[in-house]
Amino acid sequence: AEAQTVAMSRFPFTPIDAQTDFTVHVPQGYTWDVLVRWGDPILNGVEDFDHATGGSVEASDKVFGENTDGMESFLYQGRQLLAINHEYTNRSVNLPHTEDGTPAGAEDVRKLQNLQGISVIEVREDENGWRVVKDSPFNRRITHNTPMRIVGPAAGHDLLKTDADPTGTMSLGTMNNCGSGKTPWGTYLTCEENFNGYFGSTEEAQDQKPIQAADGYQRYGIGPDGWGYDYHKWDARFDTAKNPNEPHRVGWVVEIDPTDPESTPVKHTGLGRFKHENAEVVLARDGRVVVYMGDDERGEFLYKFVSNGVYRPGESTEGLLDDGTLYVAKFNDDQTGEWLALTPETTGMELPEILIFARKAGSAVGATTMDRPEWIATNPHAIEGYCCLTNNRNRGVKPNAGGDETPVNGPNPREVNHYGQIVRWFPHDDDHAATTFDWDLFVMAGNPTVHDDAYAGSPNITPGNMFNSPDGMAFDQNGLVWIQTDGDDDNEGDFAGMGNNQMLVGDPVTGEIARFMTGPQGCEVTGLCWSADRRTMFVGIQHPGGSWPDGEGLPRSAVIAIKREDNGIIG
Ligand code: FEO
Ligand code: CA
Ligand code: CA
Ligand code: CA
Repeated sequence: AEAQTVAMSRFPFTPIDAQTDFTVHVPQGYTWDVLVRWGDPILNGVEDFDHATGGSVEASDKVFGENTDGMESFLYQGRQLLAINHEYTNRSVNLPHTEDGTPAGAEDVRKLQNLQGISVIEVREDENGWRVVKDSPFNRRITHNTPMRIVGPAAGHDLLKTDADPTGTMSLGTMNNCGSGKTPWGTYLTCEENFNGYFGSTEEAQDQKPIQAADGYQRYGIGPDGWGYDYHKWDARFDTAKNPNEPHRVGWVVEIDPTDPESTPVKHTGLGRFKHENAEVVLARDGRVVVYMGDDERGEFLYKFVSNGVYRPGESTEGLLDDGTLYVAKFNDDQTGEWLALTPETTGMELPEILIFARKAGSAVGATTMDRPEWIATNPHAIEGYCCLTNNRNRGVKPNAGGDETPVNGPNPREVNHYGQIVRWFPHDDDHAATTFDWDLFVMAGNPTVHDDAYAGSPNITPGNMFNSPDGMAFDQNGLVWIQTDGDDDNEGDFAGMGNNQMLVGDPVTGEIARFMTGPQGCEVTGLCWSADRRTMFVGIQHPGGSWPDGEGLPRSAVIAIKREDNGIIG
């Protein structure tokens, strides 16, 4: 019966078993190879990676950054370009000379700042496989210190002004670049997620100050200590005692033109400020631009932006990511839902504050609290959207003061949610601009070998395709949905039999799901795009364990290239 299922499915491969080792597995008839690793030079004349030091500070903004995440593929003048996020640093790995990864000075901080952000690289395939074209004029690193413009309705607002930028329109750097997006006009979108962790205060009582109580520090988790990056001790920009508005200048979606290495990245305040996972761009029936976005924190929300203007190829795209309406999702228990507009009328807030403190605006209109919205993807063959709700291990415990209660609700139906689920919505009138929709759960992850209740998962979960914590997600041209996981890989207890983090593919029509790839132990699989000819799939391996992929020395996050042995189309 199993063989028959495979033969009848739209999946052109035999699913693989769960794995627990320190390498990558793909189905029979497929191959994988490393394209580029943390520390690999992306420019000529830059020193090779050194396992003893983790690379020098001088080279750190000329090498492929750490912890690859979202990425997108661009074909420009016949060249294959990739834009790739570097989400965060594994400090003890990146600073091997320190005892526990705590920066010992400004040099260490600068190295961490440089290893994050974005790489734009040209890649080329020859008889030896894919490689980075090191002398390409398109190769570029964007870091925590790269100048960028702030545009849209909140640009220039007092809350965005600092001593270094009294205009509130020019910021330095983009950080915690998690998921990605791609516009119809060929630019890259990078999404700022856990930006709060980079800020701290050299004054103990900083979060008692009136400005910080009023401005949403608590709702966004900005505290005096940060998450161990310790930037604030060595770089005053990140010291909220000295620069209280600097945190307001991150938490945005940033647009980058990968075809112009001299271009200045643009932060779009129209898309709202929160812990952005990715930005899924799709056109409404009338050509307006719709951007779906998740806020990845327990009890936070799902958002949608709809532009006022219409996208017309070849015409100006000015304002298409800023002038419009930001909505937040309300899911009803009867499997209907609505997008609630965030306006001065509905929220009682001024527009710039709605955007800067989008979470507070969402609470004001009664948005539905979610089990951590990660990637959103839309089906190119049907008017429907999907969002990975990765897990919720502490329902009822608010991550940040000022957030809403997080009861069990329709799309988040399990009290203790170790496994996660994927919610799917069907916009009314087959139009992504519609303000009402129907919804269902495409899958509830679970473990049918351990549980026989709701924690066994939905019927499309079997002992052969179990996984937990869906996170990355993208559709291929055939309308199959690829699902990447960032979950518990200890392979014990609730997670027995699931093995390492993995990539699966689902059929939206039948609900069938099959395991395609497994990553090395310790890793998360995140980031997915295809070469222009769709004969190669690029997949990101973040925070691998062991000494992957080199076999000895430090573990190195990397992008791999997966192909069919017959060089056929892969999705
Ligand atoms: Fe960076 Fe929510 O993952
Ligand atoms: Ca993620
Ligand atoms: Ca995750
Ligand atoms: Ca991650």
